[in-house]
Amino acid sequence: MTKTSTFTAPKGFPDYLPPNSGQFVAVRDALVGAARLAGFGHVELPILEDTGLFARGVGESTDVVSKEMWTFDDRNGRSVTMRPEGTAGVMRAAIEHNLDRGQLPVKLCYAGPFFRYENVQAGRYRQLQQVGVEAIGIDDPALDAEVIAVADAGFKAVGLTGYRLEVTSLGDDTCRPAYRELLQEFLAKLPLDEDTRRRAQINPLRVLDDKRPEVRELTADAPLMVDHLSESAKAHFDQVLEYLDALGVSYVLNPRMVRGLDYYTKTTFEFVHDGLGAQSGIGGGGRYDGLMERLGGPALSGIGFGIGVDRTVLALAAEGKSLPDPAQVDVFGVPLGAAAGRELVAMAGRLRAAGIRVSQSYGGRGVKGAMKAADRSGARFALVLGDRDLAAGEVGLKDLSTGEQRQIPLGDVVAEVTAALG
Ligand code: HAM
Repeated sequence: MTKTSTFTAPKGFPDYLPPNSGQFVAVRDALVGAARLAGFGHVELPILEDTGLFARGVGESTDVVSKEMWTFDDRNGRSVTMRPEGTAGVMRAAIEHNLDRGQLPVKLCYAGPFFRYENVQAGRYRQLQQVGVEAIGIDDPALDAEVIAVADAGFKAVGLTGYRLEVTSLGDDTCRPAYRELLQEFLAKLPLDEDTRRRAQINPLRVLDDKRPEVRELTADAPLMVDHLSESAKAHFDQVLEYLDALGVSYVLNPRMVRGLDYYTKTTFEFVHDGLGAQSGIGGGGRYDGLMERLGGPALSGIGFGIGVDRTVLALAAEGKSLPDPAQVDVFGVPLGAAAGRELVAMAGRLRAAGIRVSQSYGGRGVKGAMKAADRSGARFALVLGDRDLAAGEVGLKDLSTGEQRQIPLGDVVAEVTAALG
């Protein structure tokens, strides 16, 4: 194909094309499948929302809201934002459609693109794809554990092994304000630079996540939230860990975890993969009790996660693994002659109706070109049909890995191919 287009995709907006798009779809479907196994229903929500939803929901001081949003005025001068994450939109929809009047918890799952104006690098895009779940309305540690276990099961279904789950508790209204003051007092005594001091004022927890060695050293003895949890928050967290043990989900405690979104309370977690370099977070989430009320809805609790599909695909490749391509065909038709071509088209239709994945050669190619196409397709079998076979009422079934070919009656194709595929 000659290249005539002078357009390129916007920076950081990936195109998903075969053959790699097969991995993307297989990973996304496996992650969604894990959520379905736990009864999460599907939601498909708008890409655009009122800008205020994210400012209020995710937090004005977060990088996501203050630096990374794709925000613009629509033709009526109303400020809209391309969703940077999924939780705020799910809350908006749950409030708007009174989902709390049904059975609780409301368990919802979504898959799709999100938009953040970030510095683009490997594993960090401006259009990123997530599979996420939200479980709304019941504050039960068993539900926290279920949500975490669903994410873990998703990664296992994909075939990932080289990741770890980090968990912590960020406390709640009963203990976080006092802890925040304690941490601010501690940080105020340190010889920190101006910028960091300012950050300590706005969100002191972020200082604990500073990657600079000198700051790490200074904050080595900083008070940690997990040591200052209220009795109820501690009991909740202890039970989550017990349930995770019961579910056989392994985890490590990371009391310094800081998430990039402000709505988290109590249980908070992250899945980290070491094969990815700097962008090692393949998924994360936590509880966000209070968010729905802040957005003008009923005082319902919630917990969920977002998994980065792009990064999960990269992690799988880093482990040297791949999933079967959903568009991979089992059988490839090789017609030799016009009448044979017509018969193979009909045969392909019958095979597909029986659930067998079939493609074929088109355009009247010769046997050499058509067989090459069959090999390239990755199919296990070729159906080779010449006009003479047609007259004899049979077709050649060729095993493309061994090269063995045998003739089968035309009327038995579906049964024979089904049997051959096992
Ligand atoms: P998040 O940690 O901001 O959480 O994003 C979830 C995942 O999306 C990350 O762990 C990462 O794998 C992927 N991700 C984020 N930014 C990028 C990017 N620029 N390029 C590629 N992948 C990226 C949330 O979004 C929360 N809404 C999750 C949640 C749901 N919490 C509760 N419920």
